[in-house]
Amino acid sequence: MTVSFRWRLVKFLTASTALFLLVQLLLSGFAALTLDEPRRQSPLPTGTSRLLSPSTYSYVLNQPDLCRDQRPLLLALVPVAPGDRTSRDVVRRTWGAKQQEGSARDPLLLTVFYVGVSSEPGVQDALVAESGDHGDIIQMDFVDSYQNLTIKTLMIMNWVATFCPNASHAMKVDADIFVNVYLLVEVLRGYPTKGFITGSVIRDGRPRRDPKSRWYVSEEAYPDSYFPPYVSGAGYVFSTDVARKVSLASRSVPMVPLEDVYVGLCLRAAGVSPVYAQSFLALRNLFEVRHLAYDRCAFAARVIVNGFKPAELLSIWEDFSLNLFNLLSHCTVSS
Ligand SMILES: *[C@@H]1O[C@H](CO)[C@@H](O)[C@H](O)[C@H]1NC(C)=O
Ligand SMILES: *[C@@H]1O[C@H](CO)[C@@H](O)[C@H](O)[C@H]1NC(C)=O
Repeated sequence: MTVSFRWRLVKFLTASTALFLLVQLLLSGFAALTLDEPRRQSPLPTGTSRLLSPSTYSYVLNQPDLCRDQRPLLLALVPVAPGDRTSRDVVRRTWGAKQQEGSARDPLLLTVFYVGVSSEPGVQDALVAESGDHGDIIQMDFVDSYQNLTIKTLMIMNWVATFCPNASHAMKVDADIFVNVYLLVEVLRGYPTKGFITGSVIRDGRPRRDPKSRWYVSEEAYPDSYFPPYVSGAGYVFSTDVARKVSLASRSVPMVPLEDVYVGLCLRAAGVSPVYAQSFLALRNLFEVRHLAYDRCAFAARVIVNGFKPAELLSIWEDFSLNLFNLLSHCTVSS
């Protein structure tokens, strides 16, 4: 390379970097403007935005001091039905047990459960007692139902942003999932701590227009024929700043009844791109959203596996955690 060519290259690179930074600055300024002033530009009908806004609901049960005296590496956020004590107990006894590292004060993992209200007799009293025993239940006064999962997810995001912004990462995960916390804690150390979300990314999602489908979305609710990339709702991991971004963006993103798609729409509005989680050595998804039959080595190589009954989770976890040492020495990366 001649000196003059090198110089031109330097000038070109400097100019394009400056242009890039300028564009970034404009975009982030624009994003901040749209996020921080939702009222001025919000196109939302008030009924829908009221239904989704966390300020519409009050806490019935809360743990506002959970993160005050400790700073967990990872928060596990588990949406669960109010009456489903069995699933909560199994999560508490398996992967969701509080994980401490050495003598450090801060836990590796802290698990919190999120519920709405139930009209079934006896459920609320039992929940209050359970909350007194475990101190890990957050409840808001919306009706807990499948159709209201979007409300619950936003409640989770808002809770994290308000009461636990100092945790490094959070994982939203369903109660019927096997979580390999040992592998998760390892991969977490390599994850960015700002503007990051990872899981099983769905890039070609389309709205179902058949009113009989469980996943039906009307053209009125969502006119486009594709969804933006989103992470499957079964389990995903994010840096906790993303909770605030999603919570703010939700003020100007119209409701769709699919909670994982809705988070994807908020991420797009906030300028955060979901990252597909795969292991570096084998081209395999770390977040297995299908159900797999239990196999020690296969499960050792994944962060989550989907779809277990409480009793199955218990017995799988017992075998898995008892054989941890064997797993490390006997399983190959291609499992
Ligand atoms: C987060 O950490 C900052 C600085 O360490 C502290 O001032 C703040 O109170 C913490 N917030 C919460 C909610 O714990
Ligand atoms: C969702 O929650 C709201 C607020 O509690 C309630 O009015 C509505 O009936 C619920 N919808 C369903 C389908 O459960």
